[in-house]
Amino acid sequence: HQPWPGLITAYRDRLPVCDTWAPGWAPVTLREGATPLLPARALSELTGCDVHLKVEGLNPTGSFKDRGMTMAVTEAKATGKKGVLCASTGNTSASAAAYAAIAGIECAVLVPAGKIAMGKLAQAVMYGAKIIEVDGNFDDCLELARKTTATFDTIALVNSVNPVRIEGQKTAAFEIVDALGKAPDVHALPVGNAGNITAYWRGYSEYFADGVISSRPRMLGVQAAGAAPLVNGAPVKDPETIATAIRIGSPASWNQAVAAKDESNGEFRAATDEKLLEAYRLIAKTEGVFVEPASAASVAGLLAATADGWIEKGSTVVCTVTGNGLKDPDTALSSLPEIARVGIDPVAVASAMGLTE
Ligand code: F0G
Repeated sequence: HQPWPGLITAYRDRLPVCDTWAPGWAPVTLREGATPLLPARALSELTGCDVHLKVEGLNPTGSFKDRGMTMAVTEAKATGKKGVLCASTGNTSASAAAYAAIAGIECAVLVPAGKIAMGKLAQAVMYGAKIIEVDGNFDDCLELARKTTATFDTIALVNSVNPVRIEGQKTAAFEIVDALGKAPDVHALPVGNAGNITAYWRGYSEYFADGVISSRPRMLGVQAAGAAPLVNGAPVKDPETIATAIRIGSPASWNQAVAAKDESNGEFRAATDEKLLEAYRLIAKTEGVFVEPASAASVAGLLAATADGWIEKGSTVVCTVTGNGLKDPDTALSSLPEIARVGIDPVAVASAMGLTE
């Protein structure tokens, strides 16, 4: 039994590696990928569907970004870049910082001031990235990152506008098919900058073209109501949502996301912060999976789409939960229930549990 080698080695035949890179290049990997596809018992019961969670928060830095970042930083290193730069709502910066650390190259992250979750900032600090706060939102940060990397040749842009990021991220669709033995009927996921929906659709489409699967899922892209440009059909100037990871008003992969929706006969939906938080709590309490608020968008979309019949009962549905709940302790603790406080007294403990009988 071989240990999992990381996704570049695992999916080498299906990734555009090596063509133009230096001879002797090696993957920059933290053994990302191979995340669980977890049967979601409670959500299945609730919706009448066969629901599975693709738990991407179990990647090395706690989000799906690692799939793209192993590719992007491997390429940056193999092509002689001195540093990597990204704009980020938090997860991309944590991931870029970690991969740059093991590659031994510089990393700077442009983040919207005051709008990234504490755990993500802590990660970027620990991995040794240069953190640069920008007076503006993610869209402003991305514009700045693009301009900087266009001007300075030694710095690679590692946002999902970098095509190898999408290539790495498409492997999640392969893993789902490999685990299910078929494509799901519906695939739900949160949408921010729209790289990931683009990546999943590419993954499913490649397996479909090669005859590995005989159908592709309908893609359900879920945005936060206050940051729902794809649902509205127009960019949002001042996006706002508690789900800071997807607080994005002008998705870079707009056209590809629309193509994924159209070609799959899918749809975009918006979920209010209230619905996001409901789903966020439900996933933790009923499935034992602690995700970050943005990640709950997939499940919020599932609940809405099964309630109004867009998803038929009996469907096989995969919800990607994109990031680990530990990244955003503030949101978790903002709904803190009353905490019991006792002396060294077993009866008081049992009583606090309501289990004294
Ligand atoms: N879920 C989480 C937890 C994310 O961090 C992101 C994006 C998304 C969903 C949306 O994915 O952008 O491909 O549509 N986070 C980026 C970042 C923007 O900077 O970490 P997308």
